[in-house]
Amino acid sequence: MVVYINEIFKYVGQEVTLRGWIYNKRSSGKIQFPELRDGTGIIQCVAVKNKVSEEVWEKIDRSAQETSVIVTGIVNKHPKYDDIYELEITNYEIVGESKDYPITPKEHGVDFLMENRHLWLRSKRQTAILRVRHRIIKAIRDFFDNKGFTLVDAPILTPNACEGTSTLFETKYFDLGKAYLSQSGQLYAEAAAMALGKVYTFGPTFRAEKSKTRRHLTEFWMVEPEVAFADLNDNMDLAEEFLEYIVQTVLKDCKKELETIGRDTSKLEKVKRPFPRISYDEAVKILNQNNINFEYGNDFGGTDETVISSQFDRPVMVHRYPAAVKAFYMKRDPQDPTKALAVDVLAPEGYGEIIGGSQREDDYDILLERLREHNLSEDFFKWYLDLRKYGSVPHSGFGLGVERTVAWICGLEHVRETIPFARMIYRIYP
Ligand code: 4AD
Ligand code: MG
Repeated sequence: MVVYINEIFKYVGQEVTLRGWIYNKRSSGKIQFPELRDGTGIIQCVAVKNKVSEEVWEKIDRSAQETSVIVTGIVNKHPKYDDIYELEITNYEIVGESKDYPITPKEHGVDFLMENRHLWLRSKRQTAILRVRHRIIKAIRDFFDNKGFTLVDAPILTPNACEGTSTLFETKYFDLGKAYLSQSGQLYAEAAAMALGKVYTFGPTFRAEKSKTRRHLTEFWMVEPEVAFADLNDNMDLAEEFLEYIVQTVLKDCKKELETIGRDTSKLEKVKRPFPRISYDEAVKILNQNNINFEYGNDFGGTDETVISSQFDRPVMVHRYPAAVKAFYMKRDPQDPTKALAVDVLAPEGYGEIIGGSQREDDYDILLERLREHNLSEDFFKWYLDLRKYGSVPHSGFGLGVERTVAWICGLEHVRETIPFARMIYRIYP
């Protein structure tokens, strides 16, 4: 019977067949210990020279790292450890040879590993990260689906900018001129929220980021909820419940993976509501108290965010930024029109902004004025203005970057390891 390694515990004492790749191999003359991985786990196999055929012995002997094989054997439970099983080999077939596999157990530099990303993905650590990413994405969808949100797919080819014109990827679009790869699905989510009430978009987004930081990709995945009749406070309530759910779900379901990655989970356990909420002005005070050279009115840089978030043991929500440093669509604070009703959520442990959101400008005339101030074409935004013309309502939403969230939860140094094939200013291969 063909089975997977993660269900092997059901077959103790029985003969089963496994299909996978040779992860590693040890040998002590008369016994060989090939380690097999099949995507669900890794198991040690045992072949005793005088118990298997000469042919089987020889095939094992010439199986180098990453040879693909079909192995049959008897499942034995480890005498001491509960979760450990072994396969006593009775038959062994080579499917595909592998010679001089470039990634060996020795240390390789990151550049080499990124150049061989298509193979690096097979390592224990990388598969663990990909599984956590998968669990986070499922948690995101479960959270919104269980709250009655409708998933709405926003287009990727768009006629206009959403998050400023400096990071747009441009492409020719037949006879209609230029198109841009979407920086955010938000504007379309707003239209959909007026149709369905509570929606989210979830997909790849693109920024021609010239920055070479550990937090920036040129292609990344973003989930963006948008809620009709929600104000900034409702938006913050949603964001903190959402983050708590993601983190607590991963802690519960990905114990093994987090252990493989070497994550200290005690810090994640503290990610429980309520999260601290501070205004931009209060955040600036924190910077001043810490002798950080910061000019009031600017947006926070990576280091500023690290200092601010280091005051707290859970994500901190910073609200009411100077309108001048934020996007055109954000509603101004009626109490202080120099401020936008914006919120950024900064992750602990120096991971910086993982969520950016706001209450949206819902007044037609003010929005038109903002478009003009930002030199954005009224023609392309006509449909967006229409939302303020036909039954406009207060509404809010935010965007969470999946890769920064994975980096934080896994405790990774750089976002490049959080996505199967990272796209950065200096990398588009493989
Ligand atoms: O703050 P941002 O630019 O917000 C928006 O795009 C809004 N339209 C969202 C909304 O309100 N619906 O981006 C949101 C999040 C950031 O907090 C960050 O996590 C992630 O997207 N992000 C990036 N992640 C990786 N690489 C980049 N270059 C990123 N730019 C933003
Ligand atoms: Mg932002």
